[in-house]
Amino acid sequence: MQLLDGKLTSEQIKLEIAEQVKQIKARGGRAPHLAAILVGNDGASETYVNNKVLDCKQVGFDSTLIRLPAEISEAELLKRIEELNNDDAIDGFIVQVPLPKHIDEDKVTLAIAPAKDVDGFSPASVGRMCLGMPTFVSATPNGIMELLRRYKIDTVGKHCVVVGRSNIVGTPMSILMSRNSNPGNSTVTLVHSRTPNMAEICRSADILIVAIGKPDFITADMVKDGAVVVDVGITRVADASRASGFRLVGDVHFDSVKDKCSFITPVPGGVGPMTRASLLQNTLKAQAQRKV
Ligand code: GUN
Repeated sequence: MQLLDGKLTSEQIKLEIAEQVKQIKARGGRAPHLAAILVGNDGASETYVNNKVLDCKQVGFDSTLIRLPAEISEAELLKRIEELNNDDAIDGFIVQVPLPKHIDEDKVTLAIAPAKDVDGFSPASVGRMCLGMPTFVSATPNGIMELLRRYKIDTVGKHCVVVGRSNIVGTPMSILMSRNSNPGNSTVTLVHSRTPNMAEICRSADILIVAIGKPDFITADMVKDGAVVVDVGITRVADASRASGFRLVGDVHFDSVKDKCSFITPVPGGVGPMTRASLLQNTLKAQAQRKV
């Protein structure tokens, strides 16, 4: 078994981005600028957004973190989004999800200008991705494709099983892996909570991509010998032996699956850092495409 080391790969990507930023500045340009809106104080979201800000610093981007109270009204949040849409100093921005229950995430997604939608969540971005047009592909699927590409994983004609049908990961992943590209050209099956024979289908996967948010869900008996396993899950599980009080657990039972597969992403240090690197790549692209 070989690790698909997202941490190492993302560090490489960040070095490449930092070099590009240097060149932009050497030409008299300004650093790309990413903004993030964080509503409320969910612990995991705080960590994710703080890491995104640190990543910006590491590659020489400017960043702005906008923290808003959990009680903010939907109208006020939409107003803040409109301000970012119209702010020429901001190249791209994200609104961290999940949002408090009283805010309609669809309305928020629709409000983000497609040109600044570096998360690739908007209908325009998703539609363009489905049609194979240039766009911002959402950061996690984009990061997984980049990881497969850099490890030269052969995906052509392989059976790729995607577990989970979320808008952010499972659904776009199934489209990207099936399209005529490299990586891609796989025969894709998407399974979900209503699939009756999930274990059997997973066992037939040459490439298994798991994004359902259930810790240790995929066990060795669900994995084919030699499969490539990509674990998107990252759940905080209570652990009194840790100073933080929790540990991060993937959707794949790593200890039993690792001896069966050819490649596997660790949790943490697999898909997560690749997601963060993708957001930086999208922000760099957003700046390059700016018309002002
Ligand atoms: N919450 C979990 N993952 C993400 C992400 O990639 N982007 C945003 N905006 N929120 C998230």
